[in-house]
Amino acid sequence: MRKRIAVFASGFGSNLQAIMDFAGKEDLGGEISLVFSNKGNSLALKRARENQVKTACLDPSGFTNRVEFDRAILELLKSEKIDLVVLAGYMLLLSPVLVEYYSNRIINIHPALLPSFKGTHGMKDAFNYGVKVSGVTVHFVDSELDSGPIILQEAVNIKENDSLEDFEKRIHAVEHRIYPRAVQLFCHEKLRIEGRKVRILV
Ligand code: GRF
Repeated sequence: MRKRIAVFASGFGSNLQAIMDFAGKEDLGGEISLVFSNKGNSLALKRARENQVKTACLDPSGFTNRVEFDRAILELLKSEKIDLVVLAGYMLLLSPVLVEYYSNRIINIHPALLPSFKGTHGMKDAFNYGVKVSGVTVHFVDSELDSGPIILQEAVNIKENDSLEDFEKRIHAVEHRIYPRAVQLFCHEKLRIEGRKVRILV
């Protein structure tokens, strides 16, 4: 059965765009049924509307705490019968109420080779550290930050004269190629989690 996908995004939404574009050309194995944002003015929401995808926005400041906020999101996801949550530049940490209910059904993309350079500024941190190779990681989300089982990874070299912007462009190009592929693998039930390892069934 085709999976119902919710994409969570707070900002620019280029990964959302890449997944929508992929779905227009290839068999993703699911529908983007909802785009959720915590930012009403995010470009991600605009992109979703332009692609006739249903959107929802909740502002955490309207809730007593983050657990209550995530409970409201969970109700929304249940009412939309969402099977997979795709975090694509969603800048809020998920509380256990969401992570536990959607255990092994939430994925994230991180612009570094985990477990190195976790956190919000992974790409910039890797660049400033002076590593010669960094990259992109797509992983399942568990209760800790940037720590769940890894689905796909791809290395990106940092070249001698790269500016941060040069490097960022190549990171994004890899993200836009591998994130839709990871979503497709999930939707076609090709991912099996075995402890910390994710086996890709061929
Ligand atoms: C990406 O670099 C992703 O790795 C990180 O947040 C950024 C989101 O970019 N988690 P966009 O909003 O998809 O353009």
